[in-house]
Amino acid sequence: MHKDCKKILFTEQQIIDRCKELGKQITEDYKDNHNDVLFVGILKGSVPFMAELVKRIDLNLQYDFIAASSYVGTESAGDIKIVKDLDCSVVDRDIVLIEDIIDTGLTIKKLKELLYHKGAHDVKVVALLNKQSRRTCDINADYVGFEIENEFVIGFGLDFQQNYRNLPYVGVLKEECY
Ligand code: IMP
Ligand code: MG
Repeated sequence: MHKDCKKILFTEQQIIDRCKELGKQITEDYKDNHNDVLFVGILKGSVPFMAELVKRIDLNLQYDFIAASSYVGTESAGDIKIVKDLDCSVVDRDIVLIEDIIDTGLTIKKLKELLYHKGAHDVKVVALLNKQSRRTCDINADYVGFEIENEFVIGFGLDFQQNYRNLPYVGVLKEECY
């Protein structure tokens, strides 16, 4: 375990197993869908989770990436800015946004609004982690890997000041590190 990590919450194997379940569920939910689904990874945190998840989805799908600025340190900035937009059109598309963690919910809320504004037909959300107790707006993920308490977590894509994204597990960052 990394020296800055207080404890491991979810091991690599637990995350892989959960991705298999989520992939099965998403496959089932969209198998009779008329259109291909567009999976949109929110950079950068979603990348390891997205890589695990899409392999478990047995559908004709496309994927793309979007980047929204969000956090300075450990607190939410309140508003978001698109720093890297999608390459493809979202008009009339069924979209599944892939997020590493939902905290206040603002990022997901704003991105959903934006995609609908750009003409998306339907937007759902899958998140590896959910901090329900931190929610400040009325929004929820359609698919959640794991519910967690109000602790700052790192690993499997999740960072603190751009570090720790490469850890192969999700762990709690030691308080003395922030
Ligand atoms: P929200 O807009 O408040 O829901 O924030 C979501 C974003 O905040 C995530 O995409 C993460 O980048 C970041 N975030 C929230 N909680 C944590 C955490 O515990 N560890 C690392 N990043 C976090
Ligand atoms: Mg993020």
